[in-house]
Amino acid sequence: MASIAAPCQAKMETFGVESLDLQYVDQGWGSPQTNKSLAGNTIAIGGQKFEHGFGTHAVSTLRIDLNGSAERFTAAVGVDDEVGQKGGSVNFRLIGDGKILWESGVMRSGNPAKMADVELHGVKRLVLNVGDGGDGSSWDHADWADAKIVMSAGRPKALGPPPESVVVLTPKPSSGPRINGAKIFGVRPGSPFLFAISASGNRPMTFAGDHLPDGLSLDPLTGRITGKFEKKGVHIVTLTAKNAFGTAKQSLKIVCGDTIALTPPLGWNSWNCFGRDVTDANVRAAADAMVASGLIDHGWTYINIDDCWQGGRDTNGNILSSDKFPDMKALTDYVHGKGLKIGIYSSPGPQTCAHYEGSHHHEEQDARRYAEWGFDYLKYDWCSYDQIAPSPDHDQMMKPYQVMCAALNSVQRDIVFSFCQYGMGNVWEWGAQIGGNCWRTSGDITDTWASMSVNGFRLAGLEKFAGPGHWNDPDMLVVGYVGWSAKVRPTRLLPNEQYTHISLWCLLCSPLLIGCDMTKLDEFTLSLLTNDEVLAVNQDPLGRQAMRIVKEGELEIWAKDLEDGSKAIGLFNRGEEKTKMTAKWSDLGLTGSQKVRDLWRQKDMGTFNGKFQASVPRHGVILIKLSPR
Ligand code: GAL
Repeated sequence: MASIAAPCQAKMETFGVESLDLQYVDQGWGSPQTNKSLAGNTIAIGGQKFEHGFGTHAVSTLRIDLNGSAERFTAAVGVDDEVGQKGGSVNFRLIGDGKILWESGVMRSGNPAKMADVELHGVKRLVLNVGDGGDGSSWDHADWADAKIVMSAGRPKALGPPPESVVVLTPKPSSGPRINGAKIFGVRPGSPFLFAISASGNRPMTFAGDHLPDGLSLDPLTGRITGKFEKKGVHIVTLTAKNAFGTAKQSLKIVCGDTIALTPPLGWNSWNCFGRDVTDANVRAAADAMVASGLIDHGWTYINIDDCWQGGRDTNGNILSSDKFPDMKALTDYVHGKGLKIGIYSSPGPQTCAHYEGSHHHEEQDARRYAEWGFDYLKYDWCSYDQIAPSPDHDQMMKPYQVMCAALNSVQRDIVFSFCQYGMGNVWEWGAQIGGNCWRTSGDITDTWASMSVNGFRLAGLEKFAGPGHWNDPDMLVVGYVGWSAKVRPTRLLPNEQYTHISLWCLLCSPLLIGCDMTKLDEFTLSLLTNDEVLAVNQDPLGRQAMRIVKEGELEIWAKDLEDGSKAIGLFNRGEEKTKMTAKWSDLGLTGSQKVRDLWRQKDMGTFNGKFQASVPRHGVILIKLSPR
């Protein structure tokens, strides 16, 4: 630590930022590295090497308490040279007590370091922030090199996020029946049909359906509609659910044609909780919990196995499951027996991401096998297809998905086809044309604010590519107990961040795949996943993805048109301080007075003219519905 004499004779002390407690850095991927780049190399920017500083990954935030005793901040910043040709572009910002003190502008890999030299006199709280340069955060390895704070007294201190209390907003469902979930359902002619009516309310409950197409029947005790039929066209069915407290009716549009997944799939996937350690027992337990927790009554349907179920191939080339999955047919029967559906995972390359058997050269055989086993969903993950097409052009990017799509179309079973190739080649522009029901738009999500918010908010502008049967997918949910291994822990997202996560994914019409250990659902997590008015935004039959209407710094307003002529509006505060936000009718294309309903609280807020104002917490959201009076 160096000491310098200042004109006022106060004893100045200089602190390297790497000496602070870097566990408080919130970053998009990996963990912060003291005196090293993100990948653990000597920090290097534009050919210049640095001994001190820290390596991080956009989007990254470090909040520092200066106690009003700091004088100056200096650093050399840039993208680390370890990124090389892979790209990477970031923007650095220094924010003092909510005001931007310095900005680097967009910096790309190979650019020389930029020097930040900022006066801090009187500043109490400093935020070191790295943005994604406006183009997503792939390969955004960022360095705060030689970052130093000069203090006139005391020491700088890294700050954790401000404490937040866990507040359950979702009201408890009423005792009377309420029919939830999709109001429109697509099926291909002749495919086995399974649609389970989702209804909350006290049991026992009985179900009925008028005008079911010939070939389908409804079990009055379970509410499951099964069978098959060939007649293409739209069939409007009236569903009824009845219990001791009343009767609910809801119409269901069954569309028999070429398109399935007319609303975004709702379900669970094993990856974000169990990662490589997933077993048959975990999957059964997830299905059990989906029913026991009541999630099934709110429209949740799929139980999806991710990577690491495969056990090689037999002598005829048929894919086998590993010892962890002793009998796939028995497993799918078990899940279907609960009125749920089940998904599986593979890769177009020779191996999956976790180095299990992929589908390369076995696509038809695998699709047949998935159908025989009884799967309803396939996640198809690019990974080792890199070996086949190391620098794929547009056609090469599409090819493996076209091949598997043809294979899936050749079996008489409706299998939702989920592309997982992290957004390569702007997949949203062509995913639907080649049979994708959804496609990942970015790399893997993790349970940090940086990762979740970047994955979600980057869908601005992609709304024109989503619609019934084909959805943008910013990746699975990171609420509840996650861990990517047999050892799970509570999500690191704070409560307001979790409200943002679910609200945004609903506005975006994203597939909602719960990524947590379902046997450990706590009251708060369950409340996030069972708010029928919020889920209805995701499942709205119009299938219109929300648009970003306003962006003012860290404040964003998103709007989604709903089938009944109303709009769902999200007021999002991505900033560090609670802020008042205003949704103006003029920005939303509205006039006159509008009824405002708070969707999380399921509460009418009154009638408003011209605008609606609300105070939005740090990293939080207010989700409302505006309807004409
Ligand atoms: C990744 C994918 C993850 C998970 C993992 C399995 O490529 O994005 O969601 O499926 O592979 O190995």
